[in-house]
Amino acid sequence: MRVVRSVAELQAWSDRIRCEGRRVALVPTMGALHQGHLSLVEVAAQRADRVVVSIFVNPTQFGPGEDFEIYPRDLEGDCEKLRRSPCDLVFAPPVDEMYPGGAATWVDVDGLTEGLCGRDRPGHFRGVTTVVSRLLHAAKPHVAVFGEKDYQQLAVLRRMARDLLMDVQIVGAPIVREPDGLAMSSRNENLSRDERLQARALFAALGEARRLVAAGELRAPALIDAVRRRIGKEPLARIEYVELVHADSLQPVAEMLDRALLAVAVRFERTRLIDNTLLEAPRCSAPC
Ligand code: PAF
Repeated sequence: MRVVRSVAELQAWSDRIRCEGRRVALVPTMGALHQGHLSLVEVAAQRADRVVVSIFVNPTQFGPGEDFEIYPRDLEGDCEKLRRSPCDLVFAPPVDEMYPGGAATWVDVDGLTEGLCGRDRPGHFRGVTTVVSRLLHAAKPHVAVFGEKDYQQLAVLRRMARDLLMDVQIVGAPIVREPDGLAMSSRNENLSRDERLQARALFAALGEARRLVAAGELRAPALIDAVRRRIGKEPLARIEYVELVHADSLQPVAEMLDRALLAVAVRFERTRLIDNTLLEAPRCSAPC
């Protein structure tokens, strides 16, 4: 497994692989890798001949007062894990390699970025789309794989690739959870012991909503209320949002008609966790 720090070196490597008629996959990450990331590498390996994992804590997607400084970093540990995975090349650039001369050119997706995390983190998605488009130009992959935990990010990146006529397939991979249900995230490392225990409420609350839907409750206020009440039992949890939105447009819905996304963002001191579940309205077996 090669470790590369320069864009030029990565581009030359990717050109060579493509000239050999092989497919390249990219898994963009910010490092502090866990099983969730490694599952993305596995998905990437199923769809391409060579896998690049980028490790770059992207400053432009963090707002003032967010956790850029304390975001966990462990390049050596990450490479160790990747050596035991189907990763062929790690791209770990310094900031001035990704932003030579700063950032005068930005990629901005309207609409999809406005609700959910976009409301609480102004400028966040602009930073994500900008860095991901730079990473795509650097790695020149046929496929790029992202986790469904960041459902809104995935929707925004799909839209970006479509709108900019990018010759890359954006692929989503399922959420990977800890045994107690907490969605795996690099940020989990920053939770205290008590916060970690209380963070289980996110998964529990989404499960409660799933049960309500299975029992026929399709109204957004009732589902949102159930989730808020469950998470609200945890004294260290501060809810940023609980929303039921259309699975494609990400616009809030008043009632579930078919598929909807139930998404939550919860803050534990400086650690902000997100989670979601796709809900499907039960099908009517008798003629309705
Ligand atoms: O999901 C992440 O880890 C980041 O937002 C990404 C896609 C690597 C861009 O920095």
